[in-house]
Amino acid sequence: MKSNTMRIAVFAGDGIGPEVTEQAVRVLETLGLPGLELVEGDVGGAAYRKHGHPLPSATLDIARSCDAILFGAVGDFGLDTLERHLRPEQAILGLRKELGLFANLRPARVFEGLESLTSLRPEVAREIDLLIVRELNGDVYFGEKGMRTTPDGRREGYDIMSYAEDEVRRIARTGFEAAMKRGRRLCSVDKANVLETSQLWRDVVIETAVEFPDVELSHMYVDNAAMQLVKNPGDFDVIVTGNLFGDILSDQASMCVGSIGLLASASLAEGTFGLYEPIHGSAPDIAGKGLANPMATVLSAAMMLRYSFALEEPAARIEAAVARALANGVRGGDLGGNSGTREIGDAIVEGL
Ligand code: IPM
Ligand code: MG
Repeated sequence: MKSNTMRIAVFAGDGIGPEVTEQAVRVLETLGLPGLELVEGDVGGAAYRKHGHPLPSATLDIARSCDAILFGAVGDFGLDTLERHLRPEQAILGLRKELGLFANLRPARVFEGLESLTSLRPEVAREIDLLIVRELNGDVYFGEKGMRTTPDGRREGYDIMSYAEDEVRRIARTGFEAAMKRGRRLCSVDKANVLETSQLWRDVVIETAVEFPDVELSHMYVDNAAMQLVKNPGDFDVIVTGNLFGDILSDQASMCVGSIGLLASASLAEGTFGLYEPIHGSAPDIAGKGLANPMATVLSAAMMLRYSFALEEPAARIEAAVARALANGVRGGDLGGNSGTREIGDAIVEGL
């Protein structure tokens, strides 16, 4: 931490981002944490419309001056025809890269009482308690990409997928360390039957395993992992995987536990700095209507207290307040209920 203060950047972004972060901020303020200081900054389409860039340098400066970032969402269909480097998504990709946020933790478990709302049979869903550790700084996301014309005149898009061994080792260690704190089982997901990138991934994960003799390591191809995630999701403890596979599997995991409106995430750099965001997007269809479920963002704020500030007690208090609100039937439209954003925030704040 930079000083005795808890300096948190609040980047609300687009669509439902501002509504959901507002509730998470209320929750943080209600806790009365000493030294709490919040600094707002523009990101995404909102930043583009104001400053002509989705990640203005002023925003990066704010991020660098803080101990952690609370992030809403970015994405704006109205800007999808811009050149790629100006699109809203570049804000989150840029922050991940610029700040070295390489490890994305996405926990998924079913809240009591929601078993019947998941896309799985309740008895299958009830068993889910897993953590996806997704690499965030490499892979096809950040390789060379472009559009070109083949010699015979066809348009061709390309994105190069690659991982260097140190990138794999670093995230593998995060996966093993996370497993040590949980059920001591790590499943590495790749596509080593087809991709060289994945072969290296698997080799390096196996090499890294010698540092963690107490963790049981397994390997799974990503297609099979997608299947097992709906067939026997209770078998997973920690999953470690690359950027693209992790993006897809974590959305899938969210439906296995009820709603994407409940899944929080932490994106961590070396040390204690982290960015915390709901895994859902900007949901333009419901933006500005006060309908969005802020629980994923509130739970992301809890992860922030835990990982960046080592404040386990208030983190657990937030999580308990969310669970209590759900148990009391406070549910957003994403869970088949009709509680609005503010009302859900009220219920969580009361539960604290
Ligand atoms: C996520 C999102 C992002 C990603 C988008 C908005 C760039 O889907 O955080 O999962 O693909 O990583
Ligand atoms: Mg995603």
